[in-house]
Amino acid sequence: MANVILLGPPGAGKGTQAKRLEQTRGMVQLSTGDMLKEAIAKGTELGKRVEGIMARGELVTDEIVIGLIEDKMKTGAKGGFIFDGFPRTLKQADALGELLARTGQRLDAVIEMQVDDAALVARITGRFTCGNCGAVYHDVTHPTKVAGICDACGSTNLKRRADDNEETLKTRLMEYYKKTSPLIGYYYAKGQLSAVDGLADVDVVAEAIASVLDKA
Ligand code: AP5
Repeated sequence: MANVILLGPPGAGKGTQAKRLEQTRGMVQLSTGDMLKEAIAKGTELGKRVEGIMARGELVTDEIVIGLIEDKMKTGAKGGFIFDGFPRTLKQADALGELLARTGQRLDAVIEMQVDDAALVARITGRFTCGNCGAVYHDVTHPTKVAGICDACGSTNLKRRADDNEETLKTRLMEYYKKTSPLIGYYYAKGQLSAVDGLADVDVVAEAIASVLDKA
């Protein structure tokens, strides 16, 4: 069992690799981005509060995402949790440390997925996902085998995200560099940080992550 944070800018491949870890290691993906998008899709009070913020590419408040994570962690995960898109600020990182300590758990690894900004634009603008099972695809690098049908579950509910455009990506990247990148130093100082080349092929990235987890 291992608890791991996947850290990286929008489009680094966090969601893609989190899904792999769920399949290969029985871990549970906790994506605050997916939780918020679900709230928007369902039209809940929370969804209404965060919709505009997310469409602009800004971060929602720490209190909201910490609450979501705390709630999801109550269910437990035999294979461990994959924190995908959380923490994104130093306050969230401190809160996660406290949550894990309070529940007698520990953080086994923080994996920084290194990519350059130029690659991110192509990744984000070509991305589409399955609205049924969450599988992640790309127009060029990872299309579905049959156009319009999800390889994983056969659904035809394939969709693109409202915040996946070049303009919003600029804000998302700025938020990452201003508020999230300080976490690299934070976890390095704690001796928990490992880096993988996020520009490599998906399988190669998966192997690099597996190697970090095997040593954790
Ligand atoms: P969130 O949903 O977390 O988005 P993100 O961090 O911007 O990350 P992405 O989902 O865009 O990218 P990813 O790294 O998962 O890449 P993926 O695997 O899909 O957050 C959305 C919003 O919610 C935020 O802007 C904010 O408003 C809010 N929010 C969420 N969490 C928050 C928090 N903790 N605090 C405050 N606000 C929060 O891959 C991208 C594409 O590249 C895909 O098409 C994929 O097929 C392709 N790809 C992946 N890997 C490779 C590879 N190795 N080679 C080639 N192509 C690849």
